[in-house]
Amino acid sequence: MSNQKDKRIFRPFRLKNGEQAWIRNMRLDDLETVLELEHILFSDPWTYSNFRHEVCVSEVSWPLVAETAYELIGYAIPWFVEDEMHLANIAVSPLYQRQGVASQLLCVILEESLARGVRRAYLEVRPSNRKAIRLYEKFGFEKVGIRRRYYRNGEDALIMERYLPRQEPVRQMSDENQKR
Ligand SMILES: CC(C)(COP(=O)(O)OP(=O)(O)OC[C@H]1O[C@@H](n2cnc3c(N)ncnc32)[C@H](O)[C@@H]1OP(=O)(O)O)[C@@H](O)C(=O)NCCC(=O)NCCS
Repeated sequence: MSNQKDKRIFRPFRLKNGEQAWIRNMRLDDLETVLELEHILFSDPWTYSNFRHEVCVSEVSWPLVAETAYELIGYAIPWFVEDEMHLANIAVSPLYQRQGVASQLLCVILEESLARGVRRAYLEVRPSNRKAIRLYEKFGFEKVGIRRRYYRNGEDALIMERYLPRQEPVRQMSDENQKR
């Protein structure tokens, strides 16, 4: 299998406030800031060595960051294994939330999933994480199961998944589509 990280990406986009931003591959020198955000955003943060493994070792990982001209504002870690994509991590700086950053990261990841022939995209999320669940539902993910005591504090995880028919254009699901 070829190393997934060989696939380079540079995707400019605009935040909802009009500021220019872009998505690119995560590098080792991003990890200090990524870890700072990880500790702010998660009660059970990944460690430096977790992220280092994703950037330097894992052959299934495609770690991404979003940044402006001034700072790193978000990151995401999808794993591509055969015809599945597992979203292992996604987070956005509190200063830049609700600006469309996670949506852009997910768009890039789902487009790449389609390009790689992925048929099933899935992730785990805390049932209490309403904003993340809302985000995933907006992208067509549905709750399909529970992993008991998945998190370190004993909380269950919701499993959410989205099937990707071949050639389906990636877009946010409209409310109408979600009701189907
Ligand atoms: C969840 C998270 C990644 C969303 O990032 P974001 O960049 O703010 O998301 P976006 O701006 O792209 O929002 C997309 C949609 O998500 C939903 N959403 C995001 N923040 C929300 C909030 N505070 N309340 C309700 N819905 C919210 C909305 O549907 C939103 O669409 P809208 O703005 O058109 O209503 C971010 O809140 C975060 O980093 N949280 C902490 C880390 C985390 O929980 N990661 C997920 C682990 S499973």
